[in-house]
Amino acid sequence: MTATIQPPRSGRPSSGQPGSGRIQPKYRRNGSSKGNFEMFAWLFMRLSGVVLVVLIFGHLAVNLLVGEGIHAIDFGFVAGKWADPFWQVWDLAMLWLAMLHGTNGVRTIINDYAERDATRLWLKVVLYAATTVIIILGTLVIFTFDPCPVANGVQLPGGFCPAP
Ligand code: HEM
Repeated sequence: MTATIQPPRSGRPSSGQPGSGRIQPKYRRNGSSKGNFEMFAWLFMRLSGVVLVVLIFGHLAVNLLVGEGIHAIDFGFVAGKWADPFWQVWDLAMLWLAMLHGTNGVRTIINDYAERDATRLWLKVVLYAATTVIIILGTLVIFTFDPCPVANGVQLPGGFCPAP
């Protein structure tokens, strides 16, 4: 006996018209047109994927292969990188592209697999909320990072700077 695996999004065969070959979608999308959004989202996944290859492998090479490699990674290593606007912009691009790429990928998965309207809605609310928090926090960290934190005129422990 052979089992047939339906392709993704194929829905269930229409029960009313056996043998008609018509497929009912698992759920109805709302009628409003989304314009070209899905086409741009599709294109964005390909383009951001190509840029991410360069950013991620560049990041890994500089952090793990150059110099002492992984043994050099500590607070000072990160502080040194973020003192340079080049690495700030590099890490910012990696953060934004990975988050938007990953979020759009998970949005596609939710649309493909969550059948109930409310389930899709709430999964996407959680997804977008998490993405927003991570992008804002990550961006703030990259641009407000202070290797020599001082509070009330006292240098805080854990900083990178030598004692005055
Ligand atoms: C090395 C760089 C990367 C490349 C070249 C790449 C490429 C791609 C491409 C072309 C797709 C679309 C697949 C499709 O529509 O069938 C995709 C989907 C996806 N990517 Fe990436 N990606 C990369 C990094 C990442 C990262 C860093 C994340 C997570 C933050 C991620 C998460 C996802 C997810 C969740 C999907 C959706 C999977 C699906 O539709 O089944 N990718 N990726």
